[in-house]
Amino acid sequence: MAAKSFKLNTGTEMPAVGLGTWQSKPGEVQDAVSYALQAGYRLVDCAYCYGNEDEVGQGLKEAFDAGVKREHVFVMTKVWATYNTRVAEGLEKSLKSLGLDYVDLFLIHWPILLNPQGNHEKFPTLPDGSRDVVHGWNHVEAWKQMEALLSTGKVKAIGVCNYSKRYLEELLLHCTVVPAINQIENHPSLPQQEVVDLCKAKGIHVVAYSPLGSTGSPLMRAEPVAKIAEKKGVSAGTVLLSYHVARGSTVLAKSVTPARIKSNLDLVELDAADMKLLDDYSADLAKKGELKRYVYPPFGVDFGFPDKS
Ligand SMILES: NC(=O)c1ccc[n+]([C@@H]2O[C@H](COP(=O)([O-])OP(=O)(O)OC[C@H]3O[C@@H](n4cnc5c(N)ncnc54)[C@H](OP(=O)(O)O)[C@@H]3O)[C@@H](O)[C@H]2O)c1
Repeated sequence: MAAKSFKLNTGTEMPAVGLGTWQSKPGEVQDAVSYALQAGYRLVDCAYCYGNEDEVGQGLKEAFDAGVKREHVFVMTKVWATYNTRVAEGLEKSLKSLGLDYVDLFLIHWPILLNPQGNHEKFPTLPDGSRDVVHGWNHVEAWKQMEALLSTGKVKAIGVCNYSKRYLEELLLHCTVVPAINQIENHPSLPQQEVVDLCKAKGIHVVAYSPLGSTGSPLMRAEPVAKIAEKKGVSAGTVLLSYHVARGSTVLAKSVTPARIKSNLDLVELDAADMKLLDDYSADLAKKGELKRYVYPPFGVDFGFPDKS
């Protein structure tokens, strides 16, 4: 299937598939980014919190030096939770590391505030070892600062990550600019249909993360995924990534392995029967109370996710 893209509520096109960079180690991520862009990727997902944006920036530069044009690449990054009261400062740090003068999309990584004056710049903790969260702080405050960034030209668009239906409804009541995207964990073991439906209704594009089940890609072994892969003569990874594009979402897959990076770009059309198999699998997990969220940092905060509330 030819590489697709989706139109955002800003009018800009966002590629259907992007390269993830979380847990991509130093010594690996520069090559991964450079290789991916030269293999045809046009979307890279980064975050200040990943601690590797310097090297991602070197990968971007290598690809630009090799002829990939900056204006053809969609770069998104995120403000970390210790910077949610000073998002412009967070943005500057990312731009400097990435070697860019703008990003295509800037996101709130998590709708909480971790103590900016705490005992660690990114992951402050209390004496009992729990995360140093500033309770009572309202995430809408960060969004107002995000909106103000648009006039600087340093961000082409703004969006959120990890917003549940409840958080998104709160934000929509108070925002002037509707988020362009909501980047959420999404796969057949966690379809998050309620927030996906709300995003669709409000013109917010869904970007799916951890499509393979994150570290070690455990979802590759899910039975219906293997069945569809066999029927179509493709890999389980291809099925898991194609599922999102069939749902109208962009998907982010992390890999530092050239053959996987390349194959993750080759998606297939899943038909109604394939999607029914995957949807039935999700419904069965939901019925048994076995939906699986792989990424859930121990913030000790109720984000309003139905599977975790
Ligand atoms: N906004 C957020 O809070 C948030 C949270 C989590 C993730 N994300 C974004 O979403 C991206 C993707 O999610 P993720 O990193 O959690 O996990 P993922 O993409 O679901 O899975 C990554 C794992 O799958 C392996 N893999 C990749 N392609 C494969 C293939 N074709 N066959 C077999 N194994 C394969 C990778 O190994 P190798 O690298 O060794 O190939 C790695 O172990 C992240 O990198 C990040 O950019 C955002």
